[in-house]
Amino acid sequence: MIKPNRHYADLKDSYLFYHIAQKTKAYLAEHPGAHLYRLGIGDVSLPLCGAVIRALHEAVDDQSDKDRFHGYMPECGAPFLREAIAAHYRKRGTSLDDDEVFVSSGASDELGDILDLFDRQSSALIMEPAYPAYVDANVMAGRRILHLSSGEENGFLPEPCEEARADLLYICSPNNPTGAAFSREKLARWVDFANENGSVILFDAAYEAFIEDETVPHSIFEIDGAKTCAIEICSLSKTAGFTGTRLGYTVIPKALVRSGMRFNDMWVRNRTTKTNGVSYIIQKGGAAVFTEEGQRQIRENILVYKRNARVLMDVLDALGIWYCGGKNAPYIWLKCPGGMGSWEFFDRLLTEAQIVGTPGEGFGACGEGFFRFSTFGNPEDTKEAAARLSRLLSE
Ligand code: MLT
Repeated sequence: MIKPNRHYADLKDSYLFYHIAQKTKAYLAEHPGAHLYRLGIGDVSLPLCGAVIRALHEAVDDQSDKDRFHGYMPECGAPFLREAIAAHYRKRGTSLDDDEVFVSSGASDELGDILDLFDRQSSALIMEPAYPAYVDANVMAGRRILHLSSGEENGFLPEPCEEARADLLYICSPNNPTGAAFSREKLARWVDFANENGSVILFDAAYEAFIEDETVPHSIFEIDGAKTCAIEICSLSKTAGFTGTRLGYTVIPKALVRSGMRFNDMWVRNRTTKTNGVSYIIQKGGAAVFTEEGQRQIRENILVYKRNARVLMDVLDALGIWYCGGKNAPYIWLKCPGGMGSWEFFDRLLTEAQIVGTPGEGFGACGEGFFRFSTFGNPEDTKEAAARLSRLLSE
């Protein structure tokens, strides 16, 4: 008889955002017609920008024309998009070959799929609080996981240390959920550490478009030595509102080699077997993001989310609540008021103010006592949520 993957028994009963969705659904079933102020999952509220929409329409028309029609796409990505992404990196001062860029259907899919490249016996270091999919993907694969906690004392930016010695090192900067971001200098310490130990860093750059500080790198490849120890996974979800459209990219430098095997070649081998490429239409829409017009328009949307962050931060300041983030990232990470537990605060916000947020405990044990607000909501709802938060906590 076939045996199921026994590691599924080691997972939490349900995935964080699914669990929250179930709780909010139950609340709505009991309170029909209630309006919820959604500051939970980091899902965008603004539509795709004009340049992307135009490119998508044109690509649909291409598919209706026998001379411009596209069938299967190249597995590793359309040359026009790989080139546009590599050129975008070059503009920021990082040289990449087009074939070091792989187009994906989004960062969350890729963060799971990329684990195919590594031996199941290898260990994974998760710096917590962390995006819970990192843990789940490794639990499913039966990998040994090392949890490295961070907190207010190190600004949620842990330093390399003896307990951090692992084969795979997950780094998300700017960070989900805390919004903390490694400076070049701090990130360089992790790059040196990975090179010294033969580890590979999986660098999640999904939030790079929100960076304001000049000292914070947009890509790990801005750091000397990163090409021999890092893979960067990025997404257009948060950068350009592609959460429902699905598109991302992964950078695997050709210089990344372990035990004589080149990860770039291995990923080509993997993709050519496991995918038939991302849809032509979506890749055309994605390429428009990297045009001058696209870059200007996505900035306008990002500024709307940054204004949401300001509205929430002003209320937290007025209430004297400790928080970080909100500057280089679309998340605000706050301390639950009055020493409340994070799920307790979740329930209180939902039932007394109809606000949905994300409990810090969902990002790892050290997130208990903290809470995350997403700044991706629509501005009117965010303003109303801030007013309700202020009323509730001043009572
Ligand atoms: C989050 O809210 O942490 C993210 O939006 C989830 C995701 O990107 O899958």
